[in-house]
Amino acid sequence: MDQAELIWHNGEFVPWEDAKVHVLSHALHYGTGVFEGIRCYETERGPAVFRHADHLNRLAKSAELYYLGLPYSPEEIGEATRELIRRNGLGSCYIRPLAFRGYGSLGLYATDAPVDLIVAAFPWGAYLGEEGQKHGIRAKVSSWRRIGPGGLIPHAKASGQYLNSILAKTESTNAGYEEAILLDERGFVCEGSGENIYLVRDGEIVTPGHSSSILDSINRKSVIQIARDLGDTVVERDVARAELYLAEEIFLTGTAAELVPVREIDDHPIGEPGEITRHVQAKFVDALYGRAEEYLEWLDFVEVSTGADEPSKVSS
Ligand SMILES: Cc1ncc(COP(=O)(O)O)c(C=O)c1O
Repeated sequence: MDQAELIWHNGEFVPWEDAKVHVLSHALHYGTGVFEGIRCYETERGPAVFRHADHLNRLAKSAELYYLGLPYSPEEIGEATRELIRRNGLGSCYIRPLAFRGYGSLGLYATDAPVDLIVAAFPWGAYLGEEGQKHGIRAKVSSWRRIGPGGLIPHAKASGQYLNSILAKTESTNAGYEEAILLDERGFVCEGSGENIYLVRDGEIVTPGHSSSILDSINRKSVIQIARDLGDTVVERDVARAELYLAEEIFLTGTAAELVPVREIDDHPIGEPGEITRHVQAKFVDALYGRAEEYLEWLDFVEVSTGADEPSKVSS
């Protein structure tokens, strides 16, 4: 991975290679962490974090759902993140806040183990590739079902839950596909291993709803709003597996992947990205890069010094 200079660790900016934890940290053993994937984009007005407050509020919610008391408020984490971007001299980058139970106890009722918090920010390109964003990817329905609401909390973004995504992603990659699509416990379409899914059926956009065990996604909210603002109909409902093969268009959204069309699923051709996918994608990318006036409120601009002879990187 591409490294940056500093990582924010429990309130301190520390060199990347010094951001370490003890091997008996609780989260390392049981996955007791919650995290976010956030992106910052280099806009004409400088770096801007997309839907920053929404991501940090989801982090706080995920923490609450798994009984982790966050040691910093979303506002404090937001401020630390903007400062980290400045100190690392970053423009477009990926941001990873993680709150996790640290060292202090290995019991399951581990209130003696503190909750530690880190924020990393570093360059990371399109997760499913730029070619995939342009021409679409090949996906496969996984034999692994998405975690259900009876055992875990699909709405939350918790570290341990990602073992489920990793099983699906590994299976599909080993089989030669670029992404896995998971069904929910009932057998309806849920989402990709790290993205939400949308189908175009009879000219309408259809996407699984919250009762299908989806993550409470930020980009899903954005894309639904964008599509409706563009005049498209968006329906949230259960989606049967065979509808994937009958769809006119399919696309995925997620912070790491952004908006990625699907051109083939389970070896059924969907084809090159269609008209609806294309216009939603174009407006979404404009929103990310601050080119869509109507969605500027989604951007948290990072103030950086623009003085001609001042360095843009603040020393720690
Ligand atoms: C399992 C899963 N589903 C969906 C998403 C998309 O969520 P978001 O749009 O908030 O990035 C992600 C990525 O965070 C994910 O990991």
